Amino acid sequence: MSVLLPPAQVAIVEVAPRDGFQSIREPLPTADKIRCIELLIDAGVTRMEIGAFVSPKAIPQMADTGELVAAFADRAAMRFSALVPNLRGAELALAQGVRELVFVVSVSESHNQANVRRSVAESLEELARIVALLEHDADACLRLDLGTSFDCPYEGTIAWHQVDDVLSRARALCGNLHLEVALCDTTGRATPYQVAEHFRQLVGRHQAPRLSWAFHGHDTYGMGVANALFAIHHGATAVDTACAGLGGCPFAPGATGNTATEDLVYALNGGQVYSGIDIARLLVAADAIAALPGGQSASHLRQVPRDRIR
Ligand code: COA
Ligand code: ZN
Repeated sequence: MSVLLPPAQVAIVEVAPRDGFQSIREPLPTADKIRCIELLIDAGVTRMEIGAFVSPKAIPQMADTGELVAAFADRAAMRFSALVPNLRGAELALAQGVRELVFVVSVSESHNQANVRRSVAESLEELARIVALLEHDADACLRLDLGTSFDCPYEGTIAWHQVDDVLSRARALCGNLHLEVALCDTTGRATPYQVAEHFRQLVGRHQAPRLSWAFHGHDTYGMGVANALFAIHHGATAVDTACAGLGGCPFAPGATGNTATEDLVYALNGGQVYSGIDIARLLVAADAIAALPGGQSASHLRQVPRDRIR
């Protein structure tokens, strides 16, 4: 049995402003979002999915993403990204000055249909158009979120070779772009061993100089932190989490919030893994986010008396 040595650092991508705020039925006032984002930045967050350029009919909670990007345009140290499901979203994001686009396509046909009303093949055609747009933009980069990489709410368990199929087709379109591939546990049903197996198989098959790996997980079955750690130990250099454990895809019935940022930071701190995040300040942000009306937070650390958190 091999001994797990902690990596020196892990990049945390804070997704509460996107995955979290979209899960609150009544769209939040923009000012409340801005206040929470400021607290997250104060805590040391440097990468953040700030919102989504999607149809306001599909996800009305994201309709103010452009305003949020504008409100934080002067934060040069921040790496903001935004989710886009189609060319239209990519054009809007780039026009607002977003440098990192998160293109989402699900591995399972039925979740892709429910989420973006397209077949996987149609989504990949959209990706090809987005890549053509990015090729003219030297400092823009692409995150590929592969939804339902482990489990689909409609089709059940997803095998690694199904992910490999969609990833291979997507990579063939991406040319020489900087690409971060995220295996997404949309429903939170993955187990750490399944996460390890998918990363081992896929990282082994897809090696390239401008390719890096990420994990996006939900904590529905309490596996969130363990899944993230197994991903980190099998090739992921970035992990998506949401402060206060908010979050959930409206098209993934039964799934609960994202893995809480504070829970993962606590685990990383135990191994002296650098994330740049101050846990005490993060808990201030978590309290503010958990207090938002209509949100369902799910963080372990917030329940622990503060004087017992190191
Ligand atoms: N941003 C803003 N508006 C958009 C848009 C975008 N990226 N893409 C489409 N629209 C608008 C269109 O202009 C059109 O508006 P209109 O009715 O006023 O003319 C309307 O949305 C429908 O456009 P259409 O191209 O027919 O899209 P659709 O109804 O087939 O929906 C998506 C497809 C992808 C736009 C929609 O399903 C979507 O935004 N999904 C997002 C899902 C998501 O974010 N899930 C959670 C994250 S995993
Ligand atoms: Zn998610």
